[in-house]
Amino acid sequence: MGRFSEKVALITGAGSGIGKATALALAREGAQLAIVDIDRDSCDETLKLVKDHSPYSVSFVCDVSKEDEQNTLYLETLKHFEGRLDIAVNNAGIEGAVSKTADYPLAEWNRVLDVNLTGIFIGMKHQIKAMLINGGGSIVNMSSVLGMVAVENFPAYVATKHAIIGLTKAAAVEYAANNIRINAVCPATIETPLVMDRGFRAGQDKAVYDKLVSLHPVGRLGKPEEIASMITWLCSDDSSFVTGAAMIVDGGYTAI
Ligand SMILES: NC(=O)c1ccc[n+]([C@@H]2O[C@H](COP(=O)([O-])OP(=O)(O)OC[C@H]3O[C@@H](n4cnc5c(N)ncnc54)[C@H](O)[C@@H]3O)[C@@H](O)[C@H]2O)c1
Repeated sequence: MGRFSEKVALITGAGSGIGKATALALAREGAQLAIVDIDRDSCDETLKLVKDHSPYSVSFVCDVSKEDEQNTLYLETLKHFEGRLDIAVNNAGIEGAVSKTADYPLAEWNRVLDVNLTGIFIGMKHQIKAMLINGGGSIVNMSSVLGMVAVENFPAYVATKHAIIGLTKAAAVEYAANNIRINAVCPATIETPLVMDRGFRAGQDKAVYDKLVSLHPVGRLGKPEEIASMITWLCSDDSSFVTGAAMIVDGGYTAI
């Protein structure tokens, strides 16, 4: 018996990095999962990993920026779990183009907003409606330390991560009395494909990697499991008085 036995949790972007670590952490503590990702292979791989702990889990391929795909996702998820949804982790996100604001392509701006921000907005509409019927729940939205401060060359990413905190607070105050807690998580730099292979490409350039490390007083980058641990705390009753918060998990990044 874990903290999430008999709970149903949906996680977007669960095929890789932080989402995958969160799926494993929730499954180990008894949750049954809807594993959601745009990439079929990684989605299925995460499902395989959690099945031992979490036999009723299921995976869905869905692009969170597409309203029709999300409509189908929630129809199928709620059918599979007979209307239950206790936990939602809106984690899917992309880094977008690497360019200063004046040169940033409008199409790329729209793509990053569609995935990172509108994807969460559409998802929360479904999640809140299901949780109102179920009598409550916990929603965790993935922001970033770049929802609090900025770096150069990622204007759309920085803008969406700031906006996610605003959306989280807006919905948290609306549904606090309905026993639905809604919080955001703000990690600093975590060793995932988003940072190592794309975005900063820190895995391909030692100087970039070392520069990123130097921004974290702990002297290293974070691990996906260290963010999963904050997310699972927010999903659990251990955080029962926490809502509308933006929880920083950053190895001291924003303290200097
Ligand atoms: N890695 C970091 O340093 C860091 C720091 C702060 C916040 N974050 C945020 O954490 C979240 C997860 O990032 P990660 O580092 O684990 O990245 P990742 O690239 O390893 O994983 C992201 C996952 O999201 C999926 N995805 C992308 N677009 C999607 C879409 N339209 N619909 C559904 N799924 C989609 C990808 O296929 C991938 O499996 C993102 O929102 C990211 O912005 C990451």
